[in-house]
Amino acid sequence: MPKQIILNAFEMNSSMHNSHGLWKHPKSERHRNYKDLDYWVNLAKLLEKGKFDAVFFADVLGIYDVYQNSKTPSIRDGLQVPVNDPALVVSAMANATNHLSFAITVSTTYEPPFGNARRFSTLDHLTKGRVAWNIVTSYLPNAARNFGLENMIKHDERYEIADEYLDVSYKLWEGSWKDGAVVEDKQSGTLVDPAKVNEINHSGKYFKVEGPHLSEPSLQRTPVLYQAGTSERGRAFAARHAECIFVGGPTPERIRYYINDIKERAEKHGRNPDQMKFFSFLNVIVGETTAEAEQKYAEYAEHWSASAAKAQYGASGYDIAEYEQIDRSLPFEYSKKTEGGHYKAATLTKDAPKKLTVGEVLDRFETLDRDSIIVGNPEEVVDAIQFQFEQSGVDGFNLNHFVTPGDLEAFIDLVVPLLQRRGLYKKTYKPGTLREKLFSQKSLLPEDHPGSKYRC
Ligand SMILES: Cc1cc2nc3c(=O)[nH]c(=O)nc-3n(C[C@H](O)[C@H](O)[C@H](O)COP(=O)(O)O)c2cc1C
Repeated sequence: MPKQIILNAFEMNSSMHNSHGLWKHPKSERHRNYKDLDYWVNLAKLLEKGKFDAVFFADVLGIYDVYQNSKTPSIRDGLQVPVNDPALVVSAMANATNHLSFAITVSTTYEPPFGNARRFSTLDHLTKGRVAWNIVTSYLPNAARNFGLENMIKHDERYEIADEYLDVSYKLWEGSWKDGAVVEDKQSGTLVDPAKVNEINHSGKYFKVEGPHLSEPSLQRTPVLYQAGTSERGRAFAARHAECIFVGGPTPERIRYYINDIKERAEKHGRNPDQMKFFSFLNVIVGETTAEAEQKYAEYAEHWSASAAKAQYGASGYDIAEYEQIDRSLPFEYSKKTEGGHYKAATLTKDAPKKLTVGEVLDRFETLDRDSIIVGNPEEVVDAIQFQFEQSGVDGFNLNHFVTPGDLEAFIDLVVPLLQRRGLYKKTYKPGTLREKLFSQKSLLPEDHPGSKYRC
């Protein structure tokens, strides 16, 4: 059997995610409905019908405020704002499904690890082990100011904090409660055996946590760990901690390069790189016929917001407004002021297949970037997905959608059956927790993962 595609719906508990300006499309209702639990429950049922592996919730803790040194373009266009807490919709979605899993983005830069560990344990219990954590270090200057800092913590130091954050989390999840701690012994009047519940007494450079963890062990103990970010320091972090890696890159070759690099680094940590899964973006506009898909693309392009796209590019630390009118190539340099995420900066500079001038970069934002979207009838779309899958070496995709839920419905009705017929996509779910489904192994972190060394 060929390797099968793992599929996540790329989502955000927000009015708009990456489809800039498309709230204006007549069929777009999410900017009204994302506040309703029914919207999320129906989405969960739809995705489980399409045998999606997970919903992947992106998240941010501030407004994109680098472009034009202003929050106005982002707020006006609803660029990832308003945005609600993704974790809070998950238990209702899990209750309406049996297999769909949930990856939730949480930053290690602003909220301390103790509460985060309890939130994930709670969700792992409530979902019966269908939870993953997408670990990010954040890139928005406004987020820093929302959490009491004047400036962002430097890029590489954010990853130093993340490393210690993970160590604290492993101590809580893996090392605090022994198996069998809940004894329920009515004779001795003991619900929980105190000898099996340990303080962690972590005292490090960034965190001090006594413990014990407040939640009893859940099915996975540590949620499946996702990471996204392609800087040197980000890859070093991924190689140590991540089980699933969301790799951004403009070409299949660049994605393959990052995958191989992270796998080599993981091996140096004594980890089995075959126990890691890699994901990239997937953008699809499908119609029953090519003409119908092209028509959809044209409609979407009509509603596109260039200024929201430029504002989102501020995640790189570049204020692209500062470069307007300049006819020279865009260098790879990230702003000293913000030190944003390298991945965004790299995509249109050093990772781009050819050197782009500032003018060419600006053009990319003007309309829906056709080069990054697969547009076609089901057969054409599946051919292109298969090509991308085989060329880049990824294990799966985070599927974007422009008009929700319409694009997901079309994908499930038109693309999924064809992927299944080609043997590229599952027809039934495997049993078990997310980790068991992804890696056909135990529900817990594997022995070669650094988190497992904290086990009692
Ligand atoms: C594909 C992809 C998706 C990401 N999604 C988020 C997100 O939802 N929220 C967030 O704060 N950061 C997100 N990031 C940012 C990173 O996880 C990371 O913290 C930041 O970009 C620094 O990464 P770097 O290693 O590329 O510099 C994403 C990055 C990539 C590559």
